[in-house]
Amino acid sequence: MSEIEERLAKLRAQIRYHSHRYHVLDSPEVSDAEFDALVRELRELEAEYPLLVTPDSPTQRVGAEPLDTFSKVTHVVPMTSLGNAFDEGEMYAWLARVKRLLPEDVSLEYVVEPKIDGLAVAVTYENGTFVRGATRGNGLVGEDVSLNLRTVKNVPLRIPLGGGPPPARIEVRGEIYMPLDRFRDFNRRQLESGGRAFANPRNAAAGSLRQLDPRITAERPLSLFVYGIGYVDGQRIETQWETLDYLRELGFSVNSDIRLLSDFEEVVAYCQEWMLKRDTLNYEADGVVVKINSFETQERLGIVGNAPRWAIAYKFPAREATTRLLDVKVNVGRTGALVPSAVLEPVQVGGVTIGRATLHNFEDLARRDIRVGDTVVIKRAGDVIPQVVKPIESLRTGEERVVPLPEVCPVCSEPVVKPEGEVAIYCVNAACPAQLVQRAIHLVGSMDIDGMGPKIVERFVEGGLVHDPADIYYLKADQLLPLEGFAEKSVSNLLKTIESSKQAPLWRVVMALGIRYVGAVVARLLVEHYPSMDALGSATEDDLQDLEGIGPRIAQSVVDYFSRVSHQKLIEKLRQAGVRMVEERVEKAEETLPLRGLTFVITGTLPTLSREAAKELIEEHGGKVTGSVSSRTDYLLIGESPGGSKTRKAQALDISQISEDELRAMIAAG
Ligand code: IVH
Repeated sequence: MSEIEERLAKLRAQIRYHSHRYHVLDSPEVSDAEFDALVRELRELEAEYPLLVTPDSPTQRVGAEPLDTFSKVTHVVPMTSLGNAFDEGEMYAWLARVKRLLPEDVSLEYVVEPKIDGLAVAVTYENGTFVRGATRGNGLVGEDVSLNLRTVKNVPLRIPLGGGPPPARIEVRGEIYMPLDRFRDFNRRQLESGGRAFANPRNAAAGSLRQLDPRITAERPLSLFVYGIGYVDGQRIETQWETLDYLRELGFSVNSDIRLLSDFEEVVAYCQEWMLKRDTLNYEADGVVVKINSFETQERLGIVGNAPRWAIAYKFPAREATTRLLDVKVNVGRTGALVPSAVLEPVQVGGVTIGRATLHNFEDLARRDIRVGDTVVIKRAGDVIPQVVKPIESLRTGEERVVPLPEVCPVCSEPVVKPEGEVAIYCVNAACPAQLVQRAIHLVGSMDIDGMGPKIVERFVEGGLVHDPADIYYLKADQLLPLEGFAEKSVSNLLKTIESSKQAPLWRVVMALGIRYVGAVVARLLVEHYPSMDALGSATEDDLQDLEGIGPRIAQSVVDYFSRVSHQKLIEKLRQAGVRMVEERVEKAEETLPLRGLTFVITGTLPTLSREAAKELIEEHGGKVTGSVSSRTDYLLIGESPGGSKTRKAQALDISQISEDELRAMIAAG
C-alpha cells in the first residue's frame, strides 16, 4: 500500500469511527470542526487521487444522479409481516397458541421491541461493503433504494466498525424512520417555505426514501434502526438477543429501548407501559413487537400465511378524537408564508390535552371545507401539533362559518400575495416582524450559534435589538446585560459563540440567508462551484442550472434572491461584521489544481468517460470546458469519430490535441 493509500485508509477509519460515535452511539468524542477537518482532508486527497476513491468511502454518501424509476429487487428471504394484538386478552391468546405448539417443558424468553412506524428495508453487504438497499415492497419484491439509503447517516457503508473480518454476505433488516424532533423541524421549515408538510413521520420517511433524486433524500433527516438479519454467511447466532448484539457490534443502530424478558406478565406490562410512554419517545411507535428469543423455537413455530407465529405486534390505539373548531388563527413563517392554525375546544387524545392543531395551508382548508364551528376529527401522528383530519358534516347546524382567505398579513397588515402555482399565501413585506423573528432564528441555526434558542431570538426582536437578521452580529454586551436572565458570564459566552460563528464555512452563510429551496445540501453544492459570495451572487440562472443537482426552480430562486437590494444590503452588513464571504479552502486549493487556467473542448467518443464525466473531471481539477474551438482553447480532448470542424479549426489554430489517457496523465502529474 502506498503512503497515500495508507493515509486514505486511516482517514476513512477515523471518520467512520467518529461518525458512529455521533450518529449511532450519540456520544461524539470530537468537535464538529475537528470532524469536518478530517472529512475535508479526505475530500481533498480523493480529489487529487480520484482513482483511489472507494464506494464505501464516507465521502460517497451523496451526489448520485437522479433515477427515472427504481428497479425491483426480489428478496432472497421474504420479508414477512406481523400478526396483531389489540389488548391484553389477545396477547395471552397468542401465548396460548404458541404454547400449544411446543413441548410442555420449553421455557420461553421474549424480546420486546418498540414497533417503529416507518418503512421496512433490507440492506445487503458483501465482504463488508454496502452493496444494496431495498424497501420491503410486497414482502417478496421491493424497490432498489440503494442510492437513497447511502445518504442515511447511520447506515454504515462499511462493516464491521472496528475493521475486523466482515461476513462474506449479510442482509440486515430494519426500519427507516424520521426522528420526531427532526420531523417537526422539517415540517415547520416546509410550511415556512411554502412547501407541503408531511401528515406524519411515517409518510415523511416513506416519501423521503422513495425519492428518485438522492440529493433530496440526503436533505431529509432519516435514520435507521435495525432489528434483524435476513441471512448471513458463517455466523452462528441462536437468538434474537444475540442478533441485536451482533448488529450493534457491526456498527448498526439498535434501539436501546429493546428488552429481553422471561416472564410474560412483564411482557404485557412493557407493552402497556410503552403505550403510555409513547409521547416521550423521539420516534413514532405504533406498537410493541414481541418476539420469541430462541431461533430453534422460532423454527418450530414457523410461519402461517405471511406472518410468523413466533412474533406478535401489540398495537397501540389510534390517536384520534373529535372536538370543536373554535377559531382559525394565522401564523407567519420565515418566508412570509401564512399558515392557518386551528384553535380547538381542548380535548384528550392518547393522554394529552390538545387545544391547537395545524391546518397546513388555506388551499387545503378550502378543499377539505373545514369551517369554524365544525365538529372535527383530530389526530396526533407523532407531531406535537396535531392535525385536523376532517369535519363531520352530519353534525353541522348551519351556524358554521367558512374561513375567508386573508387579504392582509395578520402581523404587519400589509397586503398578501398568492404566487401562481403555489399553495401558500405570502406576506411580502420584508420588514414584517413575524418574518424577521423566523429569519433570525434561521440564521442562528444555520450559523450554528449554540445557546441562542428561538425564544431568545424572539426576545431580541421584540426588544428592538434585532431589526434584521444581520443585527445578531452587532449585539453588544451592554445591550444584553439589562435583559432578565442574562448574567455577565452568559452574555460573554453568547457573544463569543456569535463571534466564532463568523468563521463558519461559507455554505452555512449561504444557507443562513434563507434563500428558498437552499438547504444544507444545496448550499454546499453551490459553494463547491462558487467559492465566494460574490461569485455566487453574480451567477446567472443558466450558470446555475449547468450544475448537477440544481434545477430551474433553485436557480431562479437564487438569482431572484441576489437581485433584491434588501438582500444585497443584508449580505453587505454580514460582510462588514466579519462573517466569512469566501471559502478559503477552495480558493487555496485552486491555486494548486493541475488544470487551473486551462480551457478544453471535447470532441468524439472517449474510451471510458462520458462527455459529462469528462467535463466534471476537468472542472474538478480547475479546468474549464467550452463548446467550440477558439483562440482561447488550450486543448482539444479528442476521442473516437471526432467532429470534423472542431479538429480542422484546432489544427488551423495550432491547438494541442490530447487523448483521455493524456488528460489523466496531466492530472496525475499535477
Ligand atoms: S419484525 C417477523 N421488528 O412492522 C418479522 N418489525 O408489521 C417482521 N416494524 O414490516 C418484522 N419495528 O416495518 C419487526 N422491531 C421491529 C419492528 C418491525 C417496526 C415494522 C416492519 C414490518 C412491520 C410488520
